[in-house]
Amino acid sequence: MGKKIVKDEFMDKLVSLCKRRGFIFQSSEIYGGINACWDYGPLGAELKRNIKDFWWREMVHKRDDIEGLDAAILMHPQVWHTSGHVSEFSDPLVDCKKCKSRYRADELDGPTCPNCGGELTDPRRFNLMFKTFMGPVEDDASIVYLRPETAQGIYVNFLNVQGPSRQKVPFGIAQIGKAFRNEITPGNFIFRTREFEQMEMQFFIHPSEDEKWFEYWKAQRWQFYLDLGIRPEKLRWHEHGPGELAHYAKAAFDIEYEFSFGWKELEGIHNRTDFDLSRHMATSGKDLRYWDEATKEKFIPYIIETSAGCDRTLLTCLVDAYYEEEVKGEQRVGLRLSPKIAPFKAAIFPLVKKDGMPEVAQRLYNDLRRRFKVFYDEGGAVGRRYRRMDEIGTPYCFTVDGQTLQDETVTLRDRDSMEQTRHKIAEIPDLLEKKIGW
Ligand code: GAP
Repeated sequence: MGKKIVKDEFMDKLVSLCKRRGFIFQSSEIYGGINACWDYGPLGAELKRNIKDFWWREMVHKRDDIEGLDAAILMHPQVWHTSGHVSEFSDPLVDCKKCKSRYRADELDGPTCPNCGGELTDPRRFNLMFKTFMGPVEDDASIVYLRPETAQGIYVNFLNVQGPSRQKVPFGIAQIGKAFRNEITPGNFIFRTREFEQMEMQFFIHPSEDEKWFEYWKAQRWQFYLDLGIRPEKLRWHEHGPGELAHYAKAAFDIEYEFSFGWKELEGIHNRTDFDLSRHMATSGKDLRYWDEATKEKFIPYIIETSAGCDRTLLTCLVDAYYEEEVKGEQRVGLRLSPKIAPFKAAIFPLVKKDGMPEVAQRLYNDLRRRFKVFYDEGGAVGRRYRRMDEIGTPYCFTVDGQTLQDETVTLRDRDSMEQTRHKIAEIPDLLEKKIGW
């Protein structure tokens, strides 16, 4: 028997919430969509941006030993020959001879088609890189690749970054950007897509220190997900065995999350040794060795890579935050997103649309929006407005009521505890910043 295709009700509900509230839509939907490509709507774009900002703050701004980079997606095609991607970056593809379904051979549990039980072809290697042409002539000489990982842009710029930034090994280079893979079996919403964003960091070290730095980055990256509020019991490590290791890696550990469709990789931490720099040095003829002034030693650094998927992190945050509850016979859905990444940090409501309350609420809104993405709403019952904010993960709501007009205080309603407390309007911006925990 092949692998069973089961209906995933949890994911169906999440996809529907994402569409309904403007997080994520199918790409080119009015034309029937395009497989494994997704568009981020107003709330999704905010959420994604917040995740990238959080990563950048943790990996670049808060550290003295990591520099940022934004390399081009299109690179010299030789990069991908040298890196091994042209020859090695492939998956084993099989077809069902009866129903023509396609599978990755390494994902099948049995020798027959999971869809119809038909006979499968022998596996053949399928390269995952998208190709296009540079310039007006479409011939072999003009082939360029859409990068399948952002990492290579970092390796070829190693000395370009190291020189001007005056960094000394050990140090890292971080980059966030799009990557493209012509996946054979994309799916599970935004989990595996053909166009996605990576948040990668390459840490250049002395070869003798690789184990120490590997352990260090494993711990740092694990903590990142805890800081994002992901439940620790939903995370685990997966060590790559010899058969699983990518062509460039000496050691690799994945951080996995338990989705409704199983334990799956979120991020890989890899010891890439001097594989990439050595190969680029050999084919480009450029000396990419590092000169250590202190020890008078010239060496090719080893690289510890941390490679996370932005879209996958976003999916994890949504999955982990999603809850349903029944209150007085009414089904409620909400997202307990970390305030650090929630699309709106707070909502501001006047209790009623009269007695000067909207004016006071508008003033608070205008004051807050200079520092935070916040939402103003004056329509309908306040309970319903709270509920709408719970559904999109807004952690705090401030309500201007009758008492506000007397003592300049507003209520703060906490999404998770549902507790309400009163605070001086003047103190709200700093209080909100403290609560977000940036
Ligand atoms: N530079 C190393 C590298 O690219 P990888 O394990 O192939 O390693 C790293 O990818 C991360 O990129 C994965 O852990 C995942 O989060 C994300 N990723 C990879 N392929 C993806 C896809 N098709 N769709 C969404 N995210 C993907």
